[in-house]
Amino acid sequence: MAATKEPDILDSKFYKPADAFFPAYSNLGLTYDDVTLATRYSEVLPRDTQLDTTLAEGLQLNIPVISADMDTVTESRMAIAMALSGGLGFIHYNMPEREQLSEVSRVKNNVHGLIQDPIKVAPEQTIGEVLELIAKKRFAFSTFPVVDSQGKLLGLLSSHVVKPRYAKRKIAEALTPRGQIHTLHKKELGRDPIARADRFFNDHPGIHKLLVVDDQDRLHGLFTMSDIERITQERNAQFKPARDAHFRLLCGAAVSATRNAFGELDRERILTHVGALVERGLDVVAVSTAHGHSRGVGDTVRMLRDAFPKLPIIAGNVTSAAAVEFLADCGASAIKVGQGPGSICTTRIVAGVGIPQLTALYVSSRAAQKKRVTILADGGITKSGDIVKALTLAQAVICGGILAGCTEAPGEVMEIGGKLYKKYRGMGSLAAMKEGSAARYGHTPDPARKVAPEGVEALKEVSGSVDRVLAQLIGGIQSGMGYLGAANLAQLREQARFIRVSPAGQREAAPHDVVELKTGS
Ligand code: XMP
Repeated sequence: MAATKEPDILDSKFYKPADAFFPAYSNLGLTYDDVTLATRYSEVLPRDTQLDTTLAEGLQLNIPVISADMDTVTESRMAIAMALSGGLGFIHYNMPEREQLSEVSRVKNNVHGLIQDPIKVAPEQTIGEVLELIAKKRFAFSTFPVVDSQGKLLGLLSSHVVKPRYAKRKIAEALTPRGQIHTLHKKELGRDPIARADRFFNDHPGIHKLLVVDDQDRLHGLFTMSDIERITQERNAQFKPARDAHFRLLCGAAVSATRNAFGELDRERILTHVGALVERGLDVVAVSTAHGHSRGVGDTVRMLRDAFPKLPIIAGNVTSAAAVEFLADCGASAIKVGQGPGSICTTRIVAGVGIPQLTALYVSSRAAQKKRVTILADGGITKSGDIVKALTLAQAVICGGILAGCTEAPGEVMEIGGKLYKKYRGMGSLAAMKEGSAARYGHTPDPARKVAPEGVEALKEVSGSVDRVLAQLIGGIQSGMGYLGAANLAQLREQARFIRVSPAGQREAAPHDVVELKTGS
């Protein structure tokens, strides 16, 4: 049982719930490192905690983590990886509209495990050319489907014949012909393609590749046995992929409050584009700007709400109660909170505005409760402890920098001084604005006009795959919940007790007075 009354009184003098703590610091902007959470009596084991979160009616995630709509963070690969881990990705809008539509389609049509665009070879190529391709692209495999110019399946080039001694032979002479290879029609995949492929590999010992074809016998995709085995193991994982009612992965996309040549909101263009996104199966749209408490964003949200009454709409960014109420009244289902906390942001330096993130979250969360909308903590997350603190006030977090070094983030890996990096840039950086994101910051996209950038271009060290990075973050969130005796996120919000940390307390919180051999991550 919990402790007796007297110590409780003593604790409550120091460790305060949000509604007592934050108003007591109404003259001071606080962020993650300014506070710490008190541990509470617990019967909850970290591994038993539940992380599902509802952002809007019909929009439920299995983990409360979202990848940011930034051009160095979220395109289809990242969105697929996020949804497979139980979260969500927002495809950015720094690309032509038709490309954003294709990116959303890629996520919605993704069949986990099915390689939808496998490397193919043509019958007139030589085996020597294939060997060169393998060396150049550093492929770890050497079996390839053989197709004609229409994509029709002609056979399979097996690794047994992809050898230097056969270099001069044409693929047409060396392939295993169509009639001798096992295939599945894409209609046979059913609701659970992984289980279907798994059964196929069980029934056909020694076959490690399964080709899938369409009505015209064109190659539709390919399963490999090793992928299926890995995925089957992952299925036992605690957090299931985030899917829609048709078993497709969830996908979000961001749009801006686009203006026409006369500076007016381009209603027709926005409506047509969001309509096309919805047709592709989009689950949630984010009207993503630097200043959500503005007429353009309000009008856009209102217009989208009228046109798509059931579509979850996220809008932002804001940091005040009035702004949350404004966007909620316009029809937003969830509000993005954060102005200037991002790792690549310079809004506070350039424009002198923005609020330290925890104070912004507290103020916003109380307005959100009143309006029955949810809030997303956007920016400034550098470690799992920050996420735990954010989730005491918000329903999910949006991460940019922490995911930008992942394999699934857009962009090439570069080597500098023996270390591997990926580019990460603010959507308000000069380079990103030139490519289209200027509207987000209320600037004209005309590259000839001078604009004040509100973000920097930077590098992030390569950090491995999204599921690896998320596993670390999720582990941290679950530990935090265990310490607070919270079995789910609603309990985390209830159990949270805050205390302000002194500068010495902040130093104490990180490794100190040691020579670190390995970082904690
Ligand atoms: P993190 O800290 O996760 O922040 O890297 C990602 C979030 O930062 C916001 N963002 C910007 N804010 N100037 C800004 O002031 C920028 O150029 C910029 N680009 C992104 C955005 O909310 C994102 O999710």
